[in-house]
Amino acid sequence: MRQGITGATVVAGVVGSPITHSLSPLIHNAWIEMAQIDAVYVAFSPPTDAFRAFAEGLRGGVIRGLNVTLPFKVDALNVADHVAEPAAQAGAANLLIFNPDGSITADNTDGLGLLGALAAQAPGFDPRLGPAVILGAGGAARGAAAALITAGSPEVRIVNRTLERAETLANAVDGNTRAFPLSAAVSAFVDANVVINTTSAGITGGEVLKVPLDATPACAVIMDMTYKPLLTPFLASAGALGRRTVDGLEMLVRQAIPSFEAFFGCAASPNLDVRALCLAAMERTP
Ligand code: ATR
Repeated sequence: MRQGITGATVVAGVVGSPITHSLSPLIHNAWIEMAQIDAVYVAFSPPTDAFRAFAEGLRGGVIRGLNVTLPFKVDALNVADHVAEPAAQAGAANLLIFNPDGSITADNTDGLGLLGALAAQAPGFDPRLGPAVILGAGGAARGAAAALITAGSPEVRIVNRTLERAETLANAVDGNTRAFPLSAAVSAFVDANVVINTTSAGITGGEVLKVPLDATPACAVIMDMTYKPLLTPFLASAGALGRRTVDGLEMLVRQAIPSFEAFFGCAASPNLDVRALCLAAMERTP
């Protein structure tokens, strides 16, 4: 049990806007308590036009590091002196480490989170066995495409409402990619190994994504990056067809594991059910 915050307490955190509903402090502080280390994980929300000044002020080990969420993931990449390969490939960072020499290292653990969630909730899933379909062409889609190409997906099909954005993303990612308009989603689904929804459709209460998943093979894995709600209409339609499904909460938890290790130099305890903690928190604050 931690004795309270002292002058020696190591600080890490998450930065985003908005941030008050972030589950990351819950996850990391639970692991901190399990590891019995003198550390704390807090949330920051600087003005959206002041990210650079905020991050610059933390140089030299003022705090150990930050997870970065919307809308700062590209800003985080741009402020860094050293960029690890996963962040370079994703074109965005979800992890900043403030080195003692004053430099900043950017990394991205979202790809590990994505692959970890697939491995956990769709045991035996192998990205090398067939094309991956990504719905959406924003930052989350780019990260997913980069991670899947690196993991050996033979083809990544980007399906987006605005075809031009899908084409831009397909060209930006180094690998075998194809762009499709949302109206041609069904042709992208044929022989798909995995379909991942990265769109923001439905998140802000607007129109939900309506794509018929019947054209996917029975063995296809269907994943949604959204976790509010946990069972999205997209995952519910996949489940109704009998497809295996993977949710966004698992990805959130899985991307946090390597972040914790990078901040505190010790492993996140596998004996703590942080997913259950998150589900309980989500029930308290829907
Ligand atoms: P992020 O960086 O978080 O991925 P983003 O850049 O805002 O977010 O991208 C959101 C994605 O959701 C886009 O691909 C967007 O499609 P457009 O490029 O056509 O705008 C997609 N999206 C949002 N609302 C949608 C809807 N109602 N139907 C289909 N796609 C939608």
